[in-house]
Amino acid sequence: MKVDFNHPSLMGNELEYIRQAIENAHISGDGPFTKKCHALLEDQLGIPKALLTTSCTHALEMSAILLDIQPGDEVIFPDFTFVSTVNAFVLRGARPVFLDIRPDTLNLDESRLDAALTPRTKAIVPVHYTGVGCEMDAIMEIAGSRNIPVVEDNAHGLFGRYKGKYLGTFGCMATQSFHETKNFTSGEGGALLINDPVFIERAEIIREKGTNRSRFFRGQVDKYTWMDIGSSYLPSEILAAFLFAQLEQREKIQSHRKQVWEMYHTGLKDWAWAHDVQLPYVPEHCEQPHHMFYMLMPDLDLRQKLIAFLHERGIISVFHYLPLHLSEMGAKFGGRQGDCPVTERVSDQLIRLPFHNALTGSDVELVVENIREFEF
Ligand SMILES: Cc1ncc(COP(=O)(O)O)c(C=O)c1O
Repeated sequence: MKVDFNHPSLMGNELEYIRQAIENAHISGDGPFTKKCHALLEDQLGIPKALLTTSCTHALEMSAILLDIQPGDEVIFPDFTFVSTVNAFVLRGARPVFLDIRPDTLNLDESRLDAALTPRTKAIVPVHYTGVGCEMDAIMEIAGSRNIPVVEDNAHGLFGRYKGKYLGTFGCMATQSFHETKNFTSGEGGALLINDPVFIERAEIIREKGTNRSRFFRGQVDKYTWMDIGSSYLPSEILAAFLFAQLEQREKIQSHRKQVWEMYHTGLKDWAWAHDVQLPYVPEHCEQPHHMFYMLMPDLDLRQKLIAFLHERGIISVFHYLPLHLSEMGAKFGGRQGDCPVTERVSDQLIRLPFHNALTGSDVELVVENIREFEF
């Protein structure tokens, strides 16, 4: 293999902090490193509460419980997203409403939102694809006018901004992923960002198996007990120690990823133009965190051929989400071919290029050179 699609790496003090966590004799959840991660996220984003979770999937599940989603409630999602965005709400009995995406940013198409609302709509869950912000002004205005809560699935977008404001700080809640493929990782991991303080106390209970153990640890009650439904959504200190070391290096990580993204963009711009290949679009009012680099090939056949062509040369590129309305589960909710034509097309055309924190300039040059040798 010459260039992996993803490759996790040590970016700073990960091993030292794990050693400290063990020496602190506290490797279960909510120890000093978890608190440091919470404080870093809260300070940098300017939000009232961040809670580390075991994954973005679990943060999404917590948000569905916090919003009291009930069987038959409708929740609106972009069709082009990861299964967990939707599954977390379906677990509570929600009926998913799949909205098509914008052909430029591949984010939920806000112009379709109004028509999708019904009296049963209980939440809107936009996804900031690749960390390029959804049109949050329009989404928040429509949601606000009907009092519908917004949960931002910001799995890709930590430290990205829309009109100068951090992604994840618009909705009442937002979710982050620290999965191996993300800019900052603990292998598996996530966070729930809480912007509306009304959710904080219940979120702590849901995250601690439905108990008020967090209040007990803070000395606010003298014993803890079962208060609500919940689960074990908090990560071990070993993971928090690893993650804190990565978050500490956020400037180094983000500037490296920016360089990689720009090298791909500069190296492929004229080639893409000449071959009808679409490169990522970033509106001027969005600052992206350079989470990934994708291209839209003219059709499925060429996309598959390019993936195979690069694979033969030791370069691993991958496709991304399949349209959720056409999945086995999506069909059970009535999804049919043609419902979301932009998602159906983009899903066939999209190819993601190698992108990780250990990628070197010569790796990127090699990928670009090989792509330019691909014959249409
Ligand atoms: C948009 C989106 N939401 C949620 C998830 C789930 O994240 P996790 O693996 O941390 O549960 C992913 C996975 O990459 C994702 O792409």
